[in-house]
Amino acid sequence: MEPKNLRVEKTDPIAVVTIHRPEKLNALDAATVTELYQVMKELQKDDAMRAVIITGSGEKAFVAGADIAEIAKHDEISGKIFAMRGQKVFRFIEKMRLPVIAAVNGYALGGGCELAMACHLRIASTGARFGQPEINLGLIPGYGGTQRLPRLIGRTQAMYLLLTGEMIDAQKALQLGLVNEVVEPDQLMQRAREIARCLAEKAPLAIRSILDVVDQGLNLNLDMALNLEAEMFGNICATEDMKEGTAAFLEKRKPQFRGK
Ligand code: COA
Repeated sequence: MEPKNLRVEKTDPIAVVTIHRPEKLNALDAATVTELYQVMKELQKDDAMRAVIITGSGEKAFVAGADIAEIAKHDEISGKIFAMRGQKVFRFIEKMRLPVIAAVNGYALGGGCELAMACHLRIASTGARFGQPEINLGLIPGYGGTQRLPRLIGRTQAMYLLLTGEMIDAQKALQLGLVNEVVEPDQLMQRAREIARCLAEKAPLAIRSILDVVDQGLNLNLDMALNLEAEMFGNICATEDMKEGTAAFLEKRKPQFRGK
């Protein structure tokens, strides 16, 4: 079934997924979260895909949060289920075999900031605004914000943003290491596509391996993480793409990676 609140555009081998609920600043209601999960699962299965860009519809918002009208109705039990659903979808994105780039075109608040943080790279327009304002609603983040924010920018800065609910602009987000780059709004999609194309040309198994080893390794102690790296390095040495990449370098030509 066609998603209602998402637009998916595939320009082989890159997909652009646009959250499209402009009248609510692309706030993530339950239906949109479900659609996002379906779409990302389909992209994961599509062998032609090499990278995904997630952005928001319009110029004002990436995603202005989870839908507050829905959250307002939650009780102890439904609240926990709500958080677990969103966490599952965002964790799926984070663990995808395809690199996912957030092109943050405006407000990335609450669930929007959490969605961007679950992506592997974040490019922001100068008009982007980030924050975890849940505290202002008497809430806490529930889609991973209390965990990913300190992991990305450190405990000191994360604690400040989580406790104050303060919004920061794109430059501050860059300074804190929350985003990779800041570009003018009219350059945002072009730059995100440029990075996606760059990643699409790399060896897919090596890309996947980097996504995996960084994700898993950060949750291990250094010795275990280094063991994991060695294991994965060994695995990648058994691929045709590694033979091709090293041979191409030695023969002074461009490699032709085939994902094998
Ligand atoms: N959930 C549900 N609806 C939302 C929303 C959200 N997270 N964020 C914005 N909207 C809705 C508004 O209710 C409004 O709907 P209406 O026109 O039917 O009243 C519409 O989107 C436009 O938002 P509005 O507040 O009028 O825009 P603004 O430019 O004055 O302010 C924000 C923009 C982002 C500062 C403001 O919308 C906001 O603070 N949103 C909530 C952010 C938040 O707390 N997110 C975390 C949620 S857990």
